[in-house]
Amino acid sequence: MSLKSKLSATAEDIDTLLSGILSTETAAAPNVVEAMRYSAIAQGKRVRPFFVCESAALFDVPRARALRAGAAIECIHCYSLVHDDLPAMDDDDLRRGRPTTHIAFGEARAILAGDGLLTIAFEIACAEATHPDPAVRCTLVTALAQAAGTEGMVGGQMLDLEAEEQESHDLDQIVTLQGLKTGALFRFSCEAGAILAAAPASDRQALSTFADRTGLAFQVADDLLDAESTAEELGKRTQKDAAAGKATFIDLLGLEGARARANELVTEACDALAPFGDKAETLREAARFMVERKN
Ligand code: IPE
Ligand code: IPE
Ligand code: MG
Ligand code: MG
Ligand code: MG
Repeated sequence: MSLKSKLSATAEDIDTLLSGILSTETAAAPNVVEAMRYSAIAQGKRVRPFFVCESAALFDVPRARALRAGAAIECIHCYSLVHDDLPAMDDDDLRRGRPTTHIAFGEARAILAGDGLLTIAFEIACAEATHPDPAVRCTLVTALAQAAGTEGMVGGQMLDLEAEEQESHDLDQIVTLQGLKTGALFRFSCEAGAILAAAPASDRQALSTFADRTGLAFQVADDLLDAESTAEELGKRTQKDAAAGKATFIDLLGLEGARARANELVTEACDALAPFGDKAETLREAARFMVERKN
């Protein structure tokens, strides 16, 4: 199966799972669930759940469990996008080829939809169907909280906004900021397989290094697409980062320099998977795709 087919198969499975979980039928407040469905069941690439499934496959973890951990991280990711697009943050009106959640439903409902997605992620991860052993679920939920919180995505988003106010940025600052705002969710996604398998710490560490490099490369590619692509191709507005004064690799290294750095990061990511040998080939292919992608 090609990487594209594998990615679409995961996307389809995640859509089905989220569609069942986010049901408006029995909801106490269907309007917030409707906005959550709009934000989460959309044309996303679902790369984070894909990394969960592929890291889990290294250890022969049942796919149904990996998909639940994948759905949890995808809910966190979708919430981060809803809030990232708000007027107080990046102020965007287009996401995944459609109006952003606050444009479609108003700001209050978008904020609540984000809150709802963040919260339900933990309910999904905590459920027995995710793993029969409560100790494993506890480790998974702790990792999820760390990835989403102030030492992860939320912290990175704060630094991202603060950097807009600065005259200039340096490379260490950009690596730290992007490692938190984007890298942290990638780290959870790749470590989740090892957590679900209760694998040795060295395996989790190898996957963490892989994720760290892949997540950074992914954000560099996002920044390159912002500079070089179009809203039609990308499904979100482009040419916004430089105008907003965002701290990006392009800002410091230029387009070619940033592209070269992204490729180096992918090589480092693939090297980190040496302990898994050929079994990790799909993960290596996925890391390369992160920088070659057109959307
Ligand atoms: C966009 O993430 C936000 C970043 C961290 C760069 P994706 O490019 O994964 O967005 P979707 O889920 O495919 O829409
Ligand atoms: C977003 O980074 C990272 C998040 C935590 C949501 P960007 O602001 O660059 O993502 P896009 O370009 O809006 O998707
Ligand atoms: Mg942003
Ligand atoms: Mg943004
Ligand atoms: Mg961007």
